[in-house]
Amino acid sequence: MRDDRIEIDDDRRMTAGDKTASRAISVWDVPTRVFHWLLVCCVAIGWLTGGSGSRWHETIGFMVAGLVLFRLIWGIVGTRHALFSSFIFSPSATYRYLNDLIGHRARRYIGHNPAGALMVFALLGVLASLCATGMMMQSDAFFGVSWVERTHKAASTILICLIPLHVVGVFISSALHRENLLFAMLSGQKPIATRTDRETSVRSLRLRDQVHGTHGFIILLVGVAIGGVYGWNSTSGRQTIVEDQPPAETLPSNQERQLAQDIRETAPIGERQDYVSGGPAVASRTWMISSGGRLYDNWFRSLGKPPPTGRHPSWPHELTRTSDADTWRCKSCHGWDYLGRDGQSGIGEQPSVAPGIRRMRGRAPSEIISILGDKTHGFSDEFLPPHAKLRTAMFVAYGQHTISRYISHEGNVLGDAEKGRPLFQTICAACHGFDGKTRKLGLSANRHYKGAPLFVGTKANGNPVEVLHKIRNGHPGAIMVSMRGFPMIYSTRLLAYVQTLPKE
Ligand code: HEC
Ligand code: HEC
Repeated sequence: MRDDRIEIDDDRRMTAGDKTASRAISVWDVPTRVFHWLLVCCVAIGWLTGGSGSRWHETIGFMVAGLVLFRLIWGIVGTRHALFSSFIFSPSATYRYLNDLIGHRARRYIGHNPAGALMVFALLGVLASLCATGMMMQSDAFFGVSWVERTHKAASTILICLIPLHVVGVFISSALHRENLLFAMLSGQKPIATRTDRETSVRSLRLRDQVHGTHGFIILLVGVAIGGVYGWNSTSGRQTIVEDQPPAETLPSNQERQLAQDIRETAPIGERQDYVSGGPAVASRTWMISSGGRLYDNWFRSLGKPPPTGRHPSWPHELTRTSDADTWRCKSCHGWDYLGRDGQSGIGEQPSVAPGIRRMRGRAPSEIISILGDKTHGFSDEFLPPHAKLRTAMFVAYGQHTISRYISHEGNVLGDAEKGRPLFQTICAACHGFDGKTRKLGLSANRHYKGAPLFVGTKANGNPVEVLHKIRNGHPGAIMVSMRGFPMIYSTRLLAYVQTLPKE
């Protein structure tokens, strides 16, 4: 590979005879060029659509991931000048090149020069970390985790700085060697300047390489297509949710507005204006989502109905410790962390037995409503009337928060307890007392404290994930406030403070 690094050396200046032969040498194969320009387009679109977590941005991200993956493979099995081994230079060689560049005496390289090579690796590295963190931001485990978001932001800033540097480098290099590198990346050809160039050219892109190039082109297109289709599907029908903020007070889609309208006509939730199991005449979106959270918790208690008899048909028979009524609650199957059996409540006394519902965040409520009526769930309108289905669906779509963002695996709440104190004293103490012991919340089922009374302090330490859900949405069938209308930070501060209250 070393012979690629051509030096324009006087002994090897070409003779007139040489010059009459071919004047150009094929350097960049088709896949490499298509890769380059597709990447330029994708990065431009990605940059324009960034910041909002839009569907386009995420799809483009998956396409870039496909492109980067292709380039990594092509760097190992590709044609001559695309191979990483042809442009890995030692630090000293790179330093020498940069030094020569300043002194206007840098050698010409047919493939990547050491500075260009450095740029290629830097760009690929930054793009790979952008794609990786971008995908992590979509996953349940890392959604909203701040170091991931910060890394994504930092990588995008670095990329924005590298791009102009890359362009400037190309122009400097082109001027220095009187060649048009931009054109070379379009046509794949570079002019032949020395005899060594010619020798290289003979070996450079042989027929085998051309065939090889077709394969590469196919791999490239397949990679980008898979990335694009996967990205588009994984974000299909999703809306952006800013979970730290109270929900926007306008109904987001015509479809949702129509649904609410239909429901109001058939079963007006405004008929009963009592707080516990009725509904307001004109429902705000915030109320709909928070009452949906209570339905998710315990829909029959929320609706003031007796629990269905027997077990839910989809409840696995081997799990007998859960009471019959509890097998009908969404939270029993999908968990307080909405992660189902993959989450934290999968290991508690009442294991979650179904997959998580995180994937449904931002989906159209109508899609979720039809899931609730499917064979697995079997929630007929008799069990869960349409207005309750809509609110539950709105909770699933817009009300889920990301537990890992607020509560660590050890149960530590990422909130300032001292800032929660004034909130508790002015809001919660009205019913729970300043020490949280005014209201007994049932008796402990834990085998160590069996029969001991439970208070908010006990609950917040025993199952902070559950309590966060209650603080956000209220307690089903009880006159208990919901903090849904305030940014998340107030809820986590409250939870952190409640953890400091007496447990017994
Ligand atoms: C007895 C257990 C059980 C109960 C109770 C239950 N589900 Fe499910 N749910 C499941 C199972 C199992 C699946 C997976 C079905 C499948 O893969 O086809 C599921 C799937 C879902 C999905 C689709 C998830 C996805 O990513 O495709 C949503 C949304 C959902 N449930 C919401 C709810 C809501 C809301 C409630 C309460 C009203 C509820 N479920 C009650 C067992 C349950
Ligand atoms: C208007 C009265 C009222 C206010 C205000 C109130 N709660 Fe409650 N809370 C209740 C009632 C009633 C219950 C149900 C008690 C029961 O199970 O009998 C309850 C239950 C709870 C539960 C336990 C639910 C369970 O799993 O048993 C927690 C935790 C809780 N409240 C926390 C809070 C916090 C934190 C605040 C302040 C944001 C608060 N509450 C404000 C009335 C209130």
